[in-house]
Amino acid sequence: MSATASRPTADPAILRARRAENIVVGEEIVRHRLATRAIHWTVALFFFLALFSGLPIWTPVFGWMAHFFGGLNVCRWLHPWAGILFFVSMGVMFVHWLGEMRLEPKEREWLRPRKMIEYMRYQGEDPDVGKYNGGQKLFFFAAALGALGLLLSGLVMWFPLEFPRILRELAILIHDVAFILFVVAVVFHIYLGTAAEPGTFHSMIRGTVSRPWARLHHPRWYREVVGEERRHP
Ligand code: HEM
Repeated sequence: MSATASRPTADPAILRARRAENIVVGEEIVRHRLATRAIHWTVALFFFLALFSGLPIWTPVFGWMAHFFGGLNVCRWLHPWAGILFFVSMGVMFVHWLGEMRLEPKEREWLRPRKMIEYMRYQGEDPDVGKYNGGQKLFFFAAALGALGLLLSGLVMWFPLEFPRILRELAILIHDVAFILFVVAVVFHIYLGTAAEPGTFHSMIRGTVSRPWARLHHPRWYREVVGEERRHP
């Protein structure tokens, strides 16, 4: 058998997902092109690097984690640089996604906790959900704000002699509250992006989703992508 014959045929949807998104390829829909996925996973990498190198500095309870990095002194050096890289990659992600994440007036209802609970219970399905729902957009802005808070408070702690005592104490409080809220949000985010909605994780790996996934979770986006009119009951 020749080498060409034994090579598996590349999936056309994956090939198109290198550069394009929001298009139909056969039975699949491209949701995240390669650049989007690369940016997202860079942010996730630096987030966890900053988190795991920061936890042993925060409390001796997590002191054992320092061994993975070569000791506490390495963590003290590595953590601020990982934080800077996290902030820079978040900035790139912010600019990259901002156009698609603008909140529509109707999506302000996601600011109410009741809406979030309904969503977690799979209630209140909305046929007008576009590419991202209000909760995803709020997470996007909250993550950007959290990253800014972590950067500014982190800089004060990195160069303590440059700042007055009151600011140093405030910085510790802001840094701790921001990172704890961030961890809680990311745990929810990972749950929603994996176990809660099968097929979503796929979109951040291969770039594609199935038609039924798109129709179920993001019906307006599905109609826009396939060029279908909304059916009124
Ligand atoms: C292992 C960790 C992570 C997993 C498994 C994961 C998974 C995903 C998936 C599957 C999506 C696509 C959702 C969709 O297409 O509807 C997504 C989007 C997104 N991710 Fe992550 N992610 C992780 C870590 C992170 C981290 C650390 C951040 C930020 C600090 C982050 C920020 C975002 C944002 C802003 C979006 C777009 C809005 C949204 O879908 O919620 N992700 N993620």
